[in-house]
Amino acid sequence: MTEPTARRLTLGALVHGSGGHIAGWRHPDARPDGQLDFAFHADLARTLERGRFDALFVADVVAIWGHQLDSLSRTGRAEHFEPLTLLAALSLVTEHIGLAATATTTYNHPFHIARKFASLDHISGGRAGWNAVTSAVPLEAANFGYDSHLEHELRYHRAEEFVQVVKALWDSFDDEAVVRDKATGRYYDPTGLHTPHHRGEHFAVRGPLNISRPPQGHPVVAGPLNIARPPQGHPVVVQAGASEAGKNLASRVADVIFSGIRDLGRAQEFYAEIKERAAAHGRDPDHLKVLPALPVVTAPTESEARDKLARLTELLPPQVALADLSYWLGGFDLSACPLDGPLPELPVSNQSHTAQQQIYEDARRDNLTIRDLVRRVANDDRTITGTPRQIADHIEEWFHGRAADGFNVILPYLPGTLDDFAELVIPELRRRGLFRTHYPGRTLRDHLGLPSPSRRA
Ligand SMILES: Cc1cc2nc3c(=O)[nH]c(=O)nc-3n(C[C@H](O)[C@H](O)[C@H](O)COP(=O)(O)O)c2cc1C
Repeated sequence: MTEPTARRLTLGALVHGSGGHIAGWRHPDARPDGQLDFAFHADLARTLERGRFDALFVADVVAIWGHQLDSLSRTGRAEHFEPLTLLAALSLVTEHIGLAATATTTYNHPFHIARKFASLDHISGGRAGWNAVTSAVPLEAANFGYDSHLEHELRYHRAEEFVQVVKALWDSFDDEAVVRDKATGRYYDPTGLHTPHHRGEHFAVRGPLNISRPPQGHPVVAGPLNIARPPQGHPVVVQAGASEAGKNLASRVADVIFSGIRDLGRAQEFYAEIKERAAAHGRDPDHLKVLPALPVVTAPTESEARDKLARLTELLPPQVALADLSYWLGGFDLSACPLDGPLPELPVSNQSHTAQQQIYEDARRDNLTIRDLVRRVANDDRTITGTPRQIADHIEEWFHGRAADGFNVILPYLPGTLDDFAELVIPELRRRGLFRTHYPGRTLRDHLGLPSPSRRA
């Protein structure tokens, strides 16, 4: 099938300094101390930009990342930079790549978030993105004065209102309101100022935002008229939950949805469903991009790629792998269960519904034991492993098969797997005419082919 030329492959990269695989930091081609080294992050961002990736995504949890402290102490997940601070710094050492930070709607306030992302949008010249998550790690609750994690449903309720308030704050100023006229003494036109006066179930926010409203389609011009305006309209909004509530939220308010789906058939169903939901909300389905995760290990030959992955698997202590499975199932302790037996029936998780459901679906469909699931969750049989041509075949099949508008590439260890992807896979994608050789514009919305939303959209 020939794709319309307007449909572009999107490539984002989810960057953990310690690598996307839980044992990634131990690999010989990884930097174990990369997580808190800014120069290391700057090098990664430049490599991604040379590869013309649409965006660099930074994940976040406002706690150490996991729940069993002993196994956590064997991962690189216990420390990471605050994402907006990191991205503001990265915006100064890059020119084009989109910079998307994760920020939770459960342990933040909309005014802070609207302000911080509007600031990043200004500072980066229109490259900001916000991955709005509802938080899935219970340890976060204890850092914010709660005895337990908010209920899943309540988290999404709050998220709905949260995003609505953030967008209203981004719309505080009309384009024309930003005057900066020294002659008349008018800094902005008060008739173009919109104060949200929001009073809802979770938030009361008067507004307006103390940053001018992003414009619609104005180029960034250092002139008297729009010097203060961020160029994107709204920073790009990403949503990464695939429960019923997550899909609802994404299809109404997000520009991008991430998923963790690894099976082509399921990914096609998910893609069709998300596009239909967006259309049902009166949106152009092309304006909601579906990006499944793509963990990749590549090398010039298939056996080299498989060796690299095997090396990674050997570095994962069994108790860490089991704790990882138990985390994704919702934090239930599996240590007393026989490894060669089936998964016990567990209550519905208050963490990620999607992650728990997917593990159960896999277990039932493929008749998997706990040992099999440990392997699967530890990524060794879900990482796309092969030659650059095999990786490109996978990308092409999913893209043309309408399972994905692009991918959120997960790099199991860094910098090794990123260097391999940039040197081997990107040229192969270009040879096939699948991926760009230059950036189409200046902003993240330009890269993604997304229009600037009209006011109060
Ligand atoms: C690719 C991807 C990246 C994610 N990154 C984060 C993250 O950085 N922080 C976080 O708290 N949750 C993250 N999540 C979790 C989701 O945002 C969501 O909160 C979680 O899946 C629970 O929602 P659900 O029950 O709708 O699946 C991520 C999910 C996916 C698929």
